[in-house]
Amino acid sequence: MSDDHQNTPRGMKRGLTRYGDEEFSLYLRKAFIKAMGYSDDALSRPVIGIVNTFSAYNACHANVPPLIEAVKRGVMLAGGLPMEFPTISLHESFSFPTSMYLRNLMSMDTEEMLLALPMDACVLIGGCDKTVPAQLMAAASADVPAIQVVTGPMLSGTHREERVGACTDCRRFWGEYRGGRIDATEINEVEGRLAPSAGTCGVMGTASTMACMTEALGMMLPGGAAIPAVSAERLRHGEAAGTRAMALAKEGLKPSTIMTPAAFENALRVLLAIGGSTNAIVHLAAIAGRLGIELDMPAFDALGADTPVLVDLKPTGQYYMDDLHKAGGMAPILRALKPLLNVDCMTVSGRTLGEEIDASPPAFPQDVVHPLDNPIHSGGGIAFLKGNLAGEGAIIKQAAGTADLMVHEGPAMVFDSLEDLATRIDAPDLDVTPDSVLILRNAGPKGAPGMPEAGYIPIPKKLAQQGVKDMVRISDCRMSGTAFGSIVLHATPEAAVGGPLALVETGDTVRLDVPNRRLDMDVSDEELARRRAAWSPPATTHAERGYKKLYMDHVTQADEGVDFDFLTQRPFNAKTPR
Ligand code: FES
Repeated sequence: MSDDHQNTPRGMKRGLTRYGDEEFSLYLRKAFIKAMGYSDDALSRPVIGIVNTFSAYNACHANVPPLIEAVKRGVMLAGGLPMEFPTISLHESFSFPTSMYLRNLMSMDTEEMLLALPMDACVLIGGCDKTVPAQLMAAASADVPAIQVVTGPMLSGTHREERVGACTDCRRFWGEYRGGRIDATEINEVEGRLAPSAGTCGVMGTASTMACMTEALGMMLPGGAAIPAVSAERLRHGEAAGTRAMALAKEGLKPSTIMTPAAFENALRVLLAIGGSTNAIVHLAAIAGRLGIELDMPAFDALGADTPVLVDLKPTGQYYMDDLHKAGGMAPILRALKPLLNVDCMTVSGRTLGEEIDASPPAFPQDVVHPLDNPIHSGGGIAFLKGNLAGEGAIIKQAAGTADLMVHEGPAMVFDSLEDLATRIDAPDLDVTPDSVLILRNAGPKGAPGMPEAGYIPIPKKLAQQGVKDMVRISDCRMSGTAFGSIVLHATPEAAVGGPLALVETGDTVRLDVPNRRLDMDVSDEELARRRAAWSPPATTHAERGYKKLYMDHVTQADEGVDFDFLTQRPFNAKTPR
């Protein structure tokens, strides 16, 4: 324990409001808080802040109230005072224009509250896609001892005896409906079956991926990533987090000590092994950026060479998150990857990752997590592309794509915006064949704005009706972690700031070559220079006031995590993976 930690005021004495008289500030604080019935004994205890992200708009967080009660119980069993407080809550389907646009706002809200309110440690309760990244970004910047608890995945559902889950099956059934293979009555029936309980999407989407990343990073107690939202075990995990937060408060173990370059490397390995969401790359870059750590994409791509996909979960495999929990959760994944992991990394439990792996329950036969010598998909689940259409880089989740399309050449069909896409994609006279390459631009961090999950460009209706299920699609936006297809994402710089996607035209020949990590358009440098001279930024990037102005003036590109430049720690002092 450092002298600084020992000498810092504790509990209610922390962060007193400034009136120029500290004793008066404490007296006034206690006078007000006593109106809520607290005793002097309670107010003399260590304080554990609990971030409450319950919202009537957020079904992924519907179990937050009982989870808070469990965390509080854990804090009180250890002799502390739990204090819950609210922050913004973001749900994917209730965040206009997109939850990504608001992630940084949530991280700022959380960071400032962690710093403004008196607490010796905190328990962050998040779950839906952007909430856990926002909370970890905040914890990294505030550097208050913190444990992440997730709400946990929802249960899988059933539709006409077929197992279904949000949201991979949401997209699959919608594709069937667009293709005319199921009718309006059935799609309405499906709508009521996809999300049968509270909790986050039940496949290896972004929420589940970030839960696994958090456990691999060491910011969550072991076993917490996959426990279903509605199980009693989820509550016991919450109770344990509350109790452990009290020990963290005493030890002063901070996020910056846990989230090191080596810990991020562990998280990136796990991302590859679970066939996780591409969104995690953006979020990990943002969290690491808060600590002055740069995400090295070519090095990440190289990690894929010896990190195969081991987890057989949708959207790349067949199982659901409740199956992963029954198979042992993160324990079999970490056990299989142990030879590749930095096992000396400290975790919030107070033990190293290696010690936690050794202490995990014994292995048993199961089909969900494969051993290293019998993977689902040999190395390189996510590839990093360069080329005259990729600029500073673009990514593709090859494990979720069609093998035959990983090397493909075809004519571009360019859509200038989300509105243009919506207007024309289903036009009967759209000049496309299954070989066409669909390109969506001006949908990046500034262009949309908010880099929406629109990269899963729908197959044009006339092709869908012919049975076409996959095509090469390219954009500067993101894709839901629950989606699948031969889809190139995060083209950087985005079109709205003049990246190469701004220059491609309908009819240009586009070549995707994943084995050689290339994405190119067959257009001469002279012609590209001519097009560049004629280009101007879209009007949508202009903002006069409010959060949109802050966002437009300061948001960074995908390779820097789409964070605000003034929130990141620059210059970088380390790279990951190393
Ligand atoms: Fe919240 Fe999928 S919508 S996790």
